[in-house]
Amino acid sequence: MSSPGGQDGPVSGFGESAHASGPGKEAKARRLGQVFTPDPVADLMASLCIDDPDAEVFDPCIGEGALLLAAGRRLAALGNAEWHRQVWGLEVDPEALAVGRRRVAEAAGVEPEAIRVTRGDFLDLPPPSLGMPEGRLLDLELGGPAGESALCDVALMNPPYTRQERLALETKARGGALSRRAGLHAHFWMHLARFVRPGGWLGAITPSTWLSAEYGRELRAFLLKHFRIHFVIGFERDVFPDATVEACVTILEKRAGCTDAGAPPPVRFLSLSAGAEWLAAASEAAGRECDGEGPGYRLRVVPQAELVAEEGWNRWFLHPSTARAVRAIRSASAGRVPLEAAARIRRGLTTGNNRVFFLDAAQAARQGIEERYLRRVVRSPREIIGLDTESVAQPGLVLFPPGPDEGGSRAAEYLREQGVVTSAYLPTTPPEPAPLLFGYAVRARKAFFRNSAGLLASDNFFEVIPRRPEETSVLFALLNSVVAALHLEAHGRGQGRGLLKIQRYELAGLQLPDPARMDPVARRELEALGEELRQHPEEEGIRAALDYLVARLLGLDAVELRRAERELASARRVKSLSRGAVVKGREVEWTASPARPGQAERDAFHPAGEAIWGSGALRGAR
Ligand SMILES: C[S@@+](CC[C@H](N)C(=O)[O-])C[C@H]1O[C@@H](n2cnc3c(N)ncnc32)[C@H](O)[C@@H]1O
Repeated sequence: MSSPGGQDGPVSGFGESAHASGPGKEAKARRLGQVFTPDPVADLMASLCIDDPDAEVFDPCIGEGALLLAAGRRLAALGNAEWHRQVWGLEVDPEALAVGRRRVAEAAGVEPEAIRVTRGDFLDLPPPSLGMPEGRLLDLELGGPAGESALCDVALMNPPYTRQERLALETKARGGALSRRAGLHAHFWMHLARFVRPGGWLGAITPSTWLSAEYGRELRAFLLKHFRIHFVIGFERDVFPDATVEACVTILEKRAGCTDAGAPPPVRFLSLSAGAEWLAAASEAAGRECDGEGPGYRLRVVPQAELVAEEGWNRWFLHPSTARAVRAIRSASAGRVPLEAAARIRRGLTTGNNRVFFLDAAQAARQGIEERYLRRVVRSPREIIGLDTESVAQPGLVLFPPGPDEGGSRAAEYLREQGVVTSAYLPTTPPEPAPLLFGYAVRARKAFFRNSAGLLASDNFFEVIPRRPEETSVLFALLNSVVAALHLEAHGRGQGRGLLKIQRYELAGLQLPDPARMDPVARRELEALGEELRQHPEEEGIRAALDYLVARLLGLDAVELRRAERELASARRVKSLSRGAVVKGREVEWTASPARPGQAERDAFHPAGEAIWGSGALRGAR
């Protein structure tokens, strides 16, 4: 029986590549959310969860076997030469299953049949009984009420990265407390928890959105209740080579019962640097009782009792001084309001079929479509140079579908030619353009645009409509200040590749000096600075003056706010420098960044928990 390598041996190179390519493979990978765990991450998870050479290790979706192989390396390093007897798993895709089975068998030096993996849908697997789809019962000891059965000692998972909308409603309903918007991974997580014995361990690599998103609240509550949370690990660079997703690793120990005695150990929020020795960094961090930094890592140590489900946990990854600056905005006493008190926020137009409903002027003229059905529209922040929609060189047009009694119009005829009756999303009466626009998919600039050209906006934007129109200029200035930029950096969701996505409620909660209670002098100053910025958006001097004024209105230190905002923005951009961790020899390296992703990727925003697929989306963008 051969060893899978152990901690000191090479950490990759078993069997065939886990990342064979081809168009069919890519489509399937998207459908099934196949993003395989790079070996360095898999080894980190296995090492932090497995301490016992006889531990039973389960992976609910083995893919091509990355986590089981890492478990094997760990078990072998702990002295178990027959480690393949300890690992088992499920996989829904027969091809991935075959590859996974073969790779694990090759690493273990046994026949593929000896590897206990089987085809099945994990979400359909009822704990603790095991009626396996292939009729093959696994020889594990089961029994006892759910939650008490000792099914496995360790579960390792990297759940599928696909839309939660694909989940059958009954599966969602089984998710119980989970929000309907919860990422698919949250369902895997809650289900998997029932397969781990009390006192057992669960290591998961998932999108990090659950740490901050509203939908993550129930998951956070669930983890607090049922687990001792040992580590939440973030990475300085994106770790997946194939998909745009910001991931984190969570290491949990299942409580013996809801009321098990003793305070849980503190939660270690560990940020790992690119190129560091992760295992060494994590084991050094595990021994530290308070915050600190070491080679390749930064650590925040937080008593579990201080974590609450209602608040996002990603703030614990912030540098303490940055966290202080973010907190300062929330606790500033001088008259501040959330943006939603000063403005309505509306998502831009969704058409349901952009190809048909967005036209350019020449197209509309050729088709003879009547002007009354058309409105000018800006589809992407990229069309706007500077901070005003006046700069949009050639606004597109959006076609509002004619009513049922307007079937004789050219517009209706055009739609019929396109095989379309109407849009389920567009209203029949065009809305009024909003005075301010914000592109919620942020890469470089966090810009709020003045909509002087009076354009409608696509759903790549949030439209901001001041409740008191006379406050538009003041809001424009406030929203382009460092106070807003820092809030967005701190509360938005990192999507990987340096992309930051802002949800509506995150924008709504943005704290600003209250324009209604501002003294007239400050108000005029703000209006003037906003106007200067609109005319000279690149001028640092104007920006600095604006930042100082807005910080002063809140009684805050502009230097601190600007420093914190720069730190967060550059940490986010650093992520885009890589395309994931790979292993060369014994070193962890990062493959080169792709060309700057373009429109297709920016447009391809997906709901919580989903990856934006690397190759496809990026290819489309170039
Ligand atoms: C993100 S990949 C991770 C694979 C592997 N554990 C790893 O870490 O590399 C998720 C895998 O789950 C599989 N999968 C998707 N839905 C599943 C389900 N309902 N039950 C079991 N496996 C599923 C996919 O085919 C894919 O191989």
